[in-house]
Amino acid sequence: MIPLAEPDLSGNEAAYLQECIASNYVSSVGPFVERFEALIAQSAGTATAVATCSGTAGLHVALVAVGVGPGDLVVTPAYSFIATANAVAIAGADPWFVDISPASWTLDPEALDAALARDVVRNGNVAVHRPSGRRVAAILPVHTLGHPADLDAIALVARRYGVPIVADAAAAIGASYRGKPIGAAGADLSVFSFNGNKTITSGGGGAVVGPDPALVKRVRHLSATARAGAAYQHDAVAFNYRMTNLQAAVGCAQMERLGAIMAAKRAVRARYVAGLAGLNGAGVPPAATWAESAFWINGVDLANATDAQRTAAVDRLRKDGIDAREFWQPLHRQQPYRGALAETQTISERLAAGFIALPSSSNLSASDQERVIAACRRAVAG
Ligand SMILES: Cc1ncc(COP(=O)(O)O)c(C=O)c1O
Repeated sequence: MIPLAEPDLSGNEAAYLQECIASNYVSSVGPFVERFEALIAQSAGTATAVATCSGTAGLHVALVAVGVGPGDLVVTPAYSFIATANAVAIAGADPWFVDISPASWTLDPEALDAALARDVVRNGNVAVHRPSGRRVAAILPVHTLGHPADLDAIALVARRYGVPIVADAAAAIGASYRGKPIGAAGADLSVFSFNGNKTITSGGGGAVVGPDPALVKRVRHLSATARAGAAYQHDAVAFNYRMTNLQAAVGCAQMERLGAIMAAKRAVRARYVAGLAGLNGAGVPPAATWAESAFWINGVDLANATDAQRTAAVDRLRKDGIDAREFWQPLHRQQPYRGALAETQTISERLAAGFIALPSSSNLSASDQERVIAACRRAVAG
């Protein structure tokens, strides 16, 4: 099988892991954690970063840091990995699903504006969801597949209601928005994932970045048991979400090669754009002019396909030795979120039926990719 997204561990990963063992620094105290945080901050365009044990943990602590709590609502797209909504639920809040835009597959600012204008009033510093009386405590756009959401347009709406923005940037390391690195592009906090299938991996892990040092400091505090002094004193209910030196060692070796890995990702994207053009109306994920995507996962969008047609195409590709996958199903249709507030989900539903993820690793060879493209053309032709 040509894999969907495999890590490339050909740099200093093994040497740095060996260094952890030799120095006895394997836990969340250790020099690689600080080095990794500095590398993430540099790439994200922020002064600091907080490394966490996963992207989900990073999202949870970020939501808590901006004040999301029990009973609140958090506006987010339904087209995402379930971890986005899980972080909201773990914080005690409920997601309110708004559709994505066809131009970017990210939270649609017009749909967001319309939903809030219809149902939300600002009462001092609090945005109140009129039908339920609940607080709208955050907007959580997702940089879908590494493509930045339209942060300026989302921020315009968020500011009107005084609601903070936490961006799920799980797949967006290396991306930029209107020329700004993704951590400095308009969200109060942005959260990366370094899960094994991501562009940069630390085995598992995440990081939280943002432009306000005081808020990032709060994230750091909450991610490390809210320790208030050298003795065992703590000033809040908090988490043990820190990344370990072992994870950070792998992450540092990966980040040293970020430029080359991103260039490889762009080359993979360009070959798909060229190879899949004009294929029975099918398309590749969009790239808005205002965004430089990290192109985490590529694939083919079988416009107007049915579930059965998509499943048949995936089966054919897999028989050809290609790890093609049916992809995210919208979160409002997932069992834990069926009761959540949800606006009309036209684009999310269409993508769920039509999008097939294709091999996208940074070390995908041109010849393997030609095989994928040829098989894809056969599968889509029927
Ligand atoms: C969009 C999105 N959000 C959140 C996550 C959660 O990250 P993690 O697996 O590191 O917890 C992932 C990936 O796994 C993701 O793709």
